[in-house]
Amino acid sequence: MLLEVQGINVHYGKIAALKGVSLEVDEGEIVTLIGANGAGKTTTLKTISGLRPLTSGAIRFKGQDISKVPGHKRVILGIGQSPEGRGIFPGMTVLENLMMGAYARKDDVSKQLEEVFELFPRLAERKSQFGGTMSGGEQQMLTIGRALMTNPSVLLLDEPSMGLAPLLIQQIFEIIQTINARGTTVLLVEQNAQQALSIAHRAYVLETGMVVKSAPAQELLHDPAVRAAYLGGDLGLH
Ligand SMILES: Nc1ncnc2c1ncn2[C@@H]1O[C@H](COP(=O)(O)OP(=O)(O)O)[C@@H](O)[C@H]1O
Ligand SMILES: [Mg+2]
Repeated sequence: MLLEVQGINVHYGKIAALKGVSLEVDEGEIVTLIGANGAGKTTTLKTISGLRPLTSGAIRFKGQDISKVPGHKRVILGIGQSPEGRGIFPGMTVLENLMMGAYARKDDVSKQLEEVFELFPRLAERKSQFGGTMSGGEQQMLTIGRALMTNPSVLLLDEPSMGLAPLLIQQIFEIIQTINARGTTVLLVEQNAQQALSIAHRAYVLETGMVVKSAPAQELLHDPAVRAAYLGGDLGLH
């Protein structure tokens, strides 16, 4: 197993955001984590990447317990994160933003840069444009591209489709599939459950800090309870 989250509890002060969350991501998979606002999806990703400490439980990556490894070292181990809400550097150019993603690497990053530009031709065209002047969709691509610059084994994506127009949403999901087909494992957090389940191999449903369901993604796509709660309920219209 590439990534194992084992019964983690995570708190913000006295408030428990995650209550014994367990999940697994195998090499080569796209696994999606769906759930309502406030369910704990972002907290789960942040705890995996080392931005939040856990109170108990463990996170294992490539067989190693990384629960206490600092975040910047997890990047080097192969965990790449594309955070919620984009978080690019607005005053830096596209190229500078991408190079920030590679800061932890000592080796030659030109091949990685070439791959990112191949995935996102728009970023290549706009290399010297300031990040802050890019459109929402372009900034989302930049955020994903920056995470890819570390050449991660697993890419954590937090709501990559948020705030995008339908056509761009479609494009982002296709790119996620391409990234996966090229060998990167993906853990995808989405409120857009329909699209996420359509491209994922397996899925977990998170409710108030707990995993309440896990199954092959196709199975959840046709699960009446999941449809009612997260997919607008109507089987016929989607
Ligand atoms: N910085 C924070 N301080 C206090 N509570 C927080 C903080 N971030 C998140 N929470 C709480 O933790 C819970 C999970 O939040 P989050 O992981 O952001 O959910 P999701 O990403 O699924 O919307 C929510 O109840 C939220 O209010
Ligand atoms: Mg979130």
